[in-house]
Amino acid sequence: MKNILITGGAGFIGSHVVRLFVNRYPDYRIVNLDKLTYAGNLENLKDIENRPNYTFVQGDICDYERMLGLFREYDIDGVIHLAAESHVDRSIRDPFTFARTNVLGTLSLLQAARTHWAGNHENRRFHHVSTDEVYGALTFEETPFRETTKYDPHSPYSASKASSDHFVRAFHDTYGLPTLVTNCSNNYGPCQFPEKLIPLCINNIRTGKPLPVYGKGENVRDWLYVEDHARAIDLIFHQGKTNETYNIGGNNERKNIDLIRIVIKTVDRLLGNPEGTSEKLITYVTDRAGHDLRYAIDSSKLMNELGWRPEVRFEEGIERTARWYLENTRWLENIDSGTYRKYYEEVYGSR
Ligand code: NAD
Ligand code: TYD
Repeated sequence: MKNILITGGAGFIGSHVVRLFVNRYPDYRIVNLDKLTYAGNLENLKDIENRPNYTFVQGDICDYERMLGLFREYDIDGVIHLAAESHVDRSIRDPFTFARTNVLGTLSLLQAARTHWAGNHENRRFHHVSTDEVYGALTFEETPFRETTKYDPHSPYSASKASSDHFVRAFHDTYGLPTLVTNCSNNYGPCQFPEKLIPLCINNIRTGKPLPVYGKGENVRDWLYVEDHARAIDLIFHQGKTNETYNIGGNNERKNIDLIRIVIKTVDRLLGNPEGTSEKLITYVTDRAGHDLRYAIDSSKLMNELGWRPEVRFEEGIERTARWYLENTRWLENIDSGTYRKYYEEVYGSR
């Protein structure tokens, strides 16, 4: 039996990772620790919540005593750390929350692992899930980020993630903690909070609201289907070398405006609208402050060393994602109304 702590498992990527581990590893105990901020939603995990190898715990990664208590109670030997504040626009409005959760929260988990493992690191791993945004912005001419690219974060979000990555590596170098860092490009797929570009557009097309395009819509992101990210995490957690960094990307660069047009086309088709119906919703708005021009990831290390490949083609992924949101309007409406926050009380009793 392996006891795996997955943090942020009620969020977008975390819920896909939790599902994959619960389904694939019946002999593991999967402990999902999540604070249930605005971004945490237990409805994402309804299908696996009663599995014998799954436990949900509500808690804050910044609470060191609580984290140490969890390591002891479940004798945690593996950590997959996803809990974070994740939205760049929120980080511009409220940088303190990002420093607290992403930096101090990560530090508190590292310290709890270090204390509980007490130097016995055999078959133990601390896998920190991070972002390509730590590398800064590329021009259109530059080659994609490699694991050796210098850190150059620009937003409070990416600065906080960069800081957390440095703490993870420092705990390896200073205390020998068996750590791994993965830096992944933009994810999309079911259960992403509808503040992020793709679900925001799907939801706004559905409800006939404007699709806000920051600046000229020329910024480029490298999109990866979330289940491909979850598979990469599984592979690296089990087979990656400790003290290594692995980049994960979709090899799928799109300008925002081109991406939005693909989303419009897909959603209009699924809704039975004539082609181009929702193009009129495109609305150019003031650019994001410090908006990084381009992200692109070189995942050749992960592909060559561990044999990972993205499996979901972009058109297929967008189709699956759009279908999921259109078939799960209650999930979206529960977010709009705030009802999703009550799910915890219904299932687990009042706090
Ligand atoms: P998300 O915002 O959807 O989910 C974050 C989860 O963390 C939520 O369930 C939230 O309740 C929980 N959380 C927040 N603060 C917490 C705290 N103090 N204690 C415990 N739990 C807390 O985020 P996501 O998009 O699923 O991202 C997950 C991780 O992957 C993050 O670390 C993010 O930096 C990283 N990442 C995301 C992307 C992306 O495109 N979304 C790409 C690369 C890396
Ligand atoms: P987002 O989904 O917030 O991810 P990130 O900022 O982490 O890359 O944004 C993706 C891209 O879309 C980014 O270049 C900002 C842009 N964007 C818009 O143009 N309009 C929007 O309403 C949002 C949320 C993002």
